[in-house]
Amino acid sequence: QYPLTIPPVKTPVMSITNPVTGLPIDYYEVYISPYQQVVYPTKPPVNLVGYDGISPGPTFLIERGRETVVRFVNNATMANSVHLHGSYSRAPWDGWAEDVTAPGEFKDYYYPNSQAARFLWYHDHAIDHTAENAYFGQAGAYIIHDPAEDALGLPSGYGTYDLPLVLSSKYYQNNGQLVSPAGETDSLYGDVIHVNGIPWPFHNVEPRKYRLRFLDAAVSRSFRLYFQRATGATTKIPFQVIASDAGLLTNPVTTDNLWISMGERYEVVFDFAPFAGQNITLRNYDDVGKDDDYLHTNKVMRFVVGGTPVTDPSTVPTTLAVVDFPPPAGPTVDHHFQFDRSGGDWRINDVVFADVANRVLANVPRGTVELWELENGGGGWTHPIHIHLVDFRVVSRSNDDGRTVLPYEAAGLKDVVWLAPNEIVKVEAHYAPWDGVYMFHCHNLIHEDHEMMAAFNVTALED
Ligand code: C2O
Ligand code: CU
Repeated sequence: QYPLTIPPVKTPVMSITNPVTGLPIDYYEVYISPYQQVVYPTKPPVNLVGYDGISPGPTFLIERGRETVVRFVNNATMANSVHLHGSYSRAPWDGWAEDVTAPGEFKDYYYPNSQAARFLWYHDHAIDHTAENAYFGQAGAYIIHDPAEDALGLPSGYGTYDLPLVLSSKYYQNNGQLVSPAGETDSLYGDVIHVNGIPWPFHNVEPRKYRLRFLDAAVSRSFRLYFQRATGATTKIPFQVIASDAGLLTNPVTTDNLWISMGERYEVVFDFAPFAGQNITLRNYDDVGKDDDYLHTNKVMRFVVGGTPVTDPSTVPTTLAVVDFPPPAGPTVDHHFQFDRSGGDWRINDVVFADVANRVLANVPRGTVELWELENGGGGWTHPIHIHLVDFRVVSRSNDDGRTVLPYEAAGLKDVVWLAPNEIVKVEAHYAPWDGVYMFHCHNLIHEDHEMMAAFNVTALED
């Protein structure tokens, strides 16, 4: 049992004023570098590659309205592309899969940071190698704050009462090195659950409320999380979901379990006050990702709650934010996409990403609201679907088991939605603010690397 680590906060090299927007720009440099980490004291250290030689990479804490330029320097041996997931970046800085930076080179990325407070993440997006690069360490948190959220009085303070919890799941060889996802064509579930790069860690907390920012950064493993007292109880402890991919929900949603799939973010407030002096275990349902479950994938981490009472000035207001939902969708589906396996590849509408002439599957005039229908073609697979550029509303789910849109899915906007086997999900988004060609894809990184990716073209307004 190892202590949880909290990724350090990234500091800028310098700040200037953007002559075009008049806003301040903070300039950062990140070095993508090989490093070693002792995971098992009895085994040699594992070889990894991370942003600034750590994983997760350093956390960016951004004030809304300050722009950033980040120079990502590739000091590794594989080409990379960096995607800031959840940002409406302009296309040249969105981490297009083929826009790779070779070893020894760098690219400067420009991010507007004008969206409301939200938990973004940056990760590799290199063509055919995203799974390897992300799995060996190229992922990190990027948090935008704004005054409206700060004024709510939620538990706050990065690394103290506001914790990023980056989930992943890995698979080790006997010699202590990771099994590479490179040869994998189905999925890589992994049997060792990591939080912030540490297997099954523990964290000391005070008996008070905490904001926990969950991100599923795993290659193929989804989770259904719940909290339980470590000894003597089988009850799932309720908590409040306050935010999802696109930031705050309209209001907190109380639940005792949380579905989270690859690429998704959910932020919760958990109150440890009733559990002073006890241990709380964060667990995962046994039957999630069950095609390949192992002995201990039903545990995630442990919270060791201090015994001394503390005062807790934080609150969770009953109303959190005004969410910018698109207007209610009419019955007309603008585009239908089917996610299937065929001919050894994972495909969207039977098209592979390598089919350059056919991979733009939709043209969407900028500023329009469209309803997309996403259909899982079956075969028992699940596919978390990510659409770049936009935030969408999950309008409906239809499936055989009667599961509807989850309350915490419905109360905010999303950029990833989980498709269960044979499920059809409708999502509605406002295709704005920029035009350009953007990707959408399955966030099971093995599927993504094996062609389950396509593009849509947001076309310019006529004038
Ligand atoms: Cu988080 Cu296109 O990816
Ligand atoms: Cu998939």
